[in-house]
Amino acid sequence: MARKGKVTVVGAGFYGSTTAQRLAEYDIFDTVVLTDIIEGKPEGLALDLNQSRPIEGFETKLVGATTGVDGSGYEPTAESDIVVITAGLPRKPGMSRMDLIETNAKIVRGVAENVAKFSPDAVVIVVSNPLDEMTALTASATGFAKARVIGQAGMLDTARFTNFVAEAAGVPVGSVRTLTLGSHGDTMVPVPSACTVDGKPLSDVLDAKAIDELVDRTRNGGAEVVALLKTGSAYYAPSAAAARMAKAVAEDSGDVMPVCTWVDGEYGISGVYLGVEAELGAGGVRKVVERDLTDTELAGLREAAEAVRAKQADVANL
Ligand code: 2OP
Repeated sequence: MARKGKVTVVGAGFYGSTTAQRLAEYDIFDTVVLTDIIEGKPEGLALDLNQSRPIEGFETKLVGATTGVDGSGYEPTAESDIVVITAGLPRKPGMSRMDLIETNAKIVRGVAENVAKFSPDAVVIVVSNPLDEMTALTASATGFAKARVIGQAGMLDTARFTNFVAEAAGVPVGSVRTLTLGSHGDTMVPVPSACTVDGKPLSDVLDAKAIDELVDRTRNGGAEVVALLKTGSAYYAPSAAAARMAKAVAEDSGDVMPVCTWVDGEYGISGVYLGVEAELGAGGVRKVVERDLTDTELAGLREAAEAVRAKQADVANL
């Protein structure tokens, strides 16, 4: 099997380390680099993951690298094709993603500057929260073309929605299609018109009240996990989503996924990073894919755009 390329995951917390594991287990990359500012942690996790290779049957090599906030230690990441930024603090119970904005803006800005220095041609996938704002910040701090900086959220929120619908309808997750657009936060926009169960409209399978409850649960999907874990936020579903995006880029697949990307005229919205569907390829986002939305869904998307636009302007000064 031909393996190629290097992908770096910045941040070796649960989100970062599970993302690195998933990427390595795809067995499509030469190298997965995992970094962290905690000395020895990324090296230890890389060693451990490398030792799982004979059991899981993959050859991709993992490299751990301790980095400094001064930019030291980034050499092993050099010339990465893809960088996934997971750096920053996760939420604690009771916190909103927006409560992290000041702290994480400083961390993400520093990381983004080093990514631009060491991997000037990379496609960057941002997962740090608040997601839409950290994606916009990374685009400005790297100076990269907007298509090369993408945020992960829609894949995750959509997966949560799909899981909840499958459980409520008593069907396999594979029978369910759902979609969420908008922000990774309060102005998340579930798109019932795009949701089906075994090809039938969702509204034929569940009543309006049940759908509303699932939409609400999806919107609070991250907080529900945080409240249970108490010491951090979700990472299995988030890492699955981020790794799938990286795989689509690595394979130049053209897969269409809900992601946070730069919107420039689509849906009558311009000049903002927002959750919409986009076709992914080697250069990041090939194009935003517009679909027919109901008036309510379109109004929700426009409302989300204005909410994140205001916050994205704020991060420029953080
Ligand atoms: C979540 O929703 C980590 O933001 C992520 O769980």
